[in-house]
Amino acid sequence: MTVQIEERGDRVVATLDRPEKRNAIDQETIDALHDLCASLEADPRTLILTGSGGVFAAGADIAELRERTPDDARRGINALAFLRIRELPMPVIAAMDGYALGGGAELAYAADIRIGTPALRIGNPETGLGIMAAAGATWRLPEIVGEARASELLLTGRTLDADEALAWGLVSTLHPADELLDAAQTIADRIAANDPLATQHTKRALRAPRAEHPAIEFDLQAELFASPEKHRRMTEFLEKRARR
Ligand code: COA
Repeated sequence: MTVQIEERGDRVVATLDRPEKRNAIDQETIDALHDLCASLEADPRTLILTGSGGVFAAGADIAELRERTPDDARRGINALAFLRIRELPMPVIAAMDGYALGGGAELAYAADIRIGTPALRIGNPETGLGIMAAAGATWRLPEIVGEARASELLLTGRTLDADEALAWGLVSTLHPADELLDAAQTIADRIAANDPLATQHTKRALRAPRAEHPAIEFDLQAELFASPEKHRRMTEFLEKRARR
């Protein structure tokens, strides 16, 4: 098993677990991520993605990549799995220690929220290996850090350390390694306190292409305005105030 799955009620923790290969993402890992997505699409829960052995993921598996053909490239093997993760109904949190390189970084770019440790080293060295980052980095990284910084990172293939990743907003916060998962759980706790449908609709609006705004949030909000949970939560707020 290259991905360990821990189900905890409102959330799932998925740990990339191939430490002897620095959690390099191979076909077995991609298959496991698709299975995980199928489960989270059917039963939406927050996903925490992390890695074992002090590493997030040192990239796609170079031994497999070396043998891949142009047809394989067109199949977008990693890209489609990461896209599916990006489109999951509930939020995805990437909790990264150590290396998050190449496909590992792109997996993290697919998350909604990224946090790291001071040991984080993140970047896309693909051009040094004679390929390009084609699993989301060229469109997702500019959305996260802006075009100038994304271009600099992808065109040089250099790696950011944790402080620079924080300064760029590529990660929201840094935590000591032994507190990283607790920090991710705290974020998941905050999400869990909110209405899941409101969270899912917010994520859908965040993901929607610019041309769909503002119509999409009006439709999504209309659905929420009709939900009993909206009425219940607002009544609770107002009654609490009235009792003061
Ligand atoms: N694909 C396949 N195997 C990988 C890998 C990858 N992306 N990254 C690491 N490994 C393997 C190594 O080949 C080595 O295997 P071995 O023990 O059978 O020889 C094992 O993981 C440990 O790697 P090693 O380089 O000894 O660990 P390290 O801690 O000294 O260095 C890295 C870690 C991440 C700096 C280094 O492994 C590395 O540069 N990896 C490739 C990064 C990369 O270019 N990723 C982009 C791919 S698109």
